[in-house]
Amino acid sequence: LPRAVLLRQARRGDLQGRLVDDAAAGRDLTGLFDEIRAAGPVARTRFGWITTHHTAVREVLSSDDFRTGVLGSDGSALGRLMEWSAGEYLHPVRPPSLLAVNPPEHTRYRKLVTGVFTARAVEQLRGRVQAIADEVLGRIDPAGPVDLVESYCGLLPVTVISEILGVPAADVGKVLSLGAAAAPSLDLGLGWRTFRDVETALAEFDTWLGEHLDHLRRHPGDDLFSRLVAARDDGVGLTEAELKSTAGLVLAAGFETTVNLLGSGIALLTERPDQLAVLRERPELWSNAVEEVLRHDPPVLLTGRVAVRATEVAGVPVPRGAVVTTVLAGANRDPGVFTDPATFNVTREGARNHVSFGAGRHHCLGATLARMEGEIGLRTIFDRFPALALSPGSRRRETRILRGYEYLPATLA
Ligand code: HEM
Repeated sequence: LPRAVLLRQARRGDLQGRLVDDAAAGRDLTGLFDEIRAAGPVARTRFGWITTHHTAVREVLSSDDFRTGVLGSDGSALGRLMEWSAGEYLHPVRPPSLLAVNPPEHTRYRKLVTGVFTARAVEQLRGRVQAIADEVLGRIDPAGPVDLVESYCGLLPVTVISEILGVPAADVGKVLSLGAAAAPSLDLGLGWRTFRDVETALAEFDTWLGEHLDHLRRHPGDDLFSRLVAARDDGVGLTEAELKSTAGLVLAAGFETTVNLLGSGIALLTERPDQLAVLRERPELWSNAVEEVLRHDPPVLLTGRVAVRATEVAGVPVPRGAVVTTVLAGANRDPGVFTDPATFNVTREGARNHVSFGAGRHHCLGATLARMEGEIGLRTIFDRFPALALSPGSRRRETRILRGYEYLPATLA
């Protein structure tokens, strides 16, 4: 049977399946998060285990009893199917992607990458991020209708990350379109045609990255990526495959997620003028507002881990080999941690306790950069266009794991 049909069969009627289906259809997930939470700190499903409890999610992501590499490592039919689909080229959830490797490889590898992506190095980019936001907004004709995803939310992060990785300006358009085509690679249950398009985009991306890395080797610049090419730990650098994978992951993660933070932020703040008014009154709250957007509408719906030994999650016994789906967006709505969790409130205390960047050793490498881009990006557009209003017809992305808007029509004046 085609992979897509098997995957559809495997997930029918299952909580995980309902979750990704509802996410793809743009339905409100609040009720389902509550239903999953009511089933226990970690609930058994036909498909594995699942949790929307904040403590359980953090526990699974931070525990040495769990490892990444959910797909393919559990020996299930689904896992074998995913392995079968593995191409030769890089893929965000297959080794040697940082996301898919475990200690001790992950420890050495991540140390080399974080040595370059330090909070200080990112902080030094603040001026450039602001300049890019101004530049991108300056290109928009304020008189006409505009799609904010295309003309701003996507362009800002891709321009920033391309600059960080030394990608020439002429290639940014290509990176953007390949990244968008490859974004569903994180999803389960793709239709056959999407699956084929994704694999084609990943293969093309892989070829382009190889050429870009060769170029940087011959002509190193001042960009963070040239520094990563040269980085050594005890004299040992990243392998060619690791470098390529990191470049691909950082590039894709650098804009495929942040575009959603900006889009959801604009949507939430235009829907809630009272909250925008609070920010105009108290601009020092912008960074908290970004945390609240991340909590309320996280760009990444879920992730998962496999138990390497029999263990417990929030007191519930879980066998070796259990695949646990950790629903980040559900943990962010846990009423035990967030009062009145469905309400968007830019003054919320503790908004930063969300798990939208994950937790533990795979905690998002780009969190500092994403926060900075979110704050500058949202503040700049609302300051520059105080009359910004969304028009009817906005559309959410159909991707299941990455969540946000695909189309946000607006008027600016
Ligand atoms: C990992 C979310 C922006 C690079 C992660 C994880 C999450 C996440 C949830 C952990 C996944 C897991 O544990 O399975 C986000 C969100 C972003 C964002 C919500 C924007 C709002 C960025 C940016 C970069 C980046 C801008 C690029 C610099 C990475 C990398 C990892 C990662 C390299 C893998 C780290 C590891 O496995 O050790 N991100 N991310 N992310 N993120 Fe981000």
